[in-house]
Amino acid sequence: MTHYTTVRPPQAAPDWTIPQDWESYSADEHAMWDHLFERQTRLLPGRVAPAFLEGLDILRLSKPGIPDFAELNARLMDATGWQVVAVPGLVPDAAFFDHLANRRFVAGRFIRTPEQIDYLEEPDIFHDVFGHVPLLANPVFADYMEAYGRGGQRAGELGAIERLARLYWYTVEFGLLRGANGLQIYGAGIVSSFSESVFALDDPSPNRIAFDLRRVMRTLYRIDDFQQTYFVIDSFEDLLRQTVENDFAPLYRALLGAQDIGAAEIVDSDRLDHRGTQAYAHA
Ligand code: PHE
Ligand code: FE
Repeated sequence: MTHYTTVRPPQAAPDWTIPQDWESYSADEHAMWDHLFERQTRLLPGRVAPAFLEGLDILRLSKPGIPDFAELNARLMDATGWQVVAVPGLVPDAAFFDHLANRRFVAGRFIRTPEQIDYLEEPDIFHDVFGHVPLLANPVFADYMEAYGRGGQRAGELGAIERLARLYWYTVEFGLLRGANGLQIYGAGIVSSFSESVFALDDPSPNRIAFDLRRVMRTLYRIDDFQQTYFVIDSFEDLLRQTVENDFAPLYRALLGAQDIGAAEIVDSDRLDHRGTQAYAHA
């Protein structure tokens, strides 16, 4: 998400966007999208939050292959007023937050190669679009993402970007939701990953802990492998209540000097759905 890159490539506009240039994708690139799309849509029913499946139809466009942002954006605009814009890669925090605050989601335009099919260093268009866009079509989640962008601009002024980045990581990217019949995935990093879609719910290794805002803001995360801890929200409405309707400035102040919590650590106040064995992480 919000990584810093110093040099803006010459082809990018001041807001870091580039044309998607949909016509220039190769047949192999379109085939890669179709393969990943088919594999995930077969796996996800029963595992993913219903809101994600409801939003997924937005990606079924008039032609197969990588979505053409022009067509996708017409639908997304109708649903929630969001847009997807292409960027060359990771963008600076300020640009990222400004796009979100204005209901624009930044997406890589490149797609993974067959060698990268299950491990990527940087998010590609499959992660960014398949993972993120279905929930941007959900009115409640759409509002959360916009408010997050404004919260990011504020956190920048308050020196609290790292706290807020942890919230993004443990909700937007790797969040779980409590469903009527058990836990469900909704985070884009999970739903766009074949192996983590199974691991996050079924594996005994990771902790699954009830979402607690302060706790999440203190928790480190790993970017190089499956998560060691997932946090479980009760609903998107509840997430919205705890974040959008909550002034974070006093919270950031209260957390100054608070000790970080390790990515696998459990603390006394945790409400556990599952105490992880961490067998995967230690293997
Ligand atoms: N309410 C937060 C603040 O005062 C902003 C925010 C909203 C952050 C939603 C994250 C998600 O900074
Ligand atoms: Fe992402």
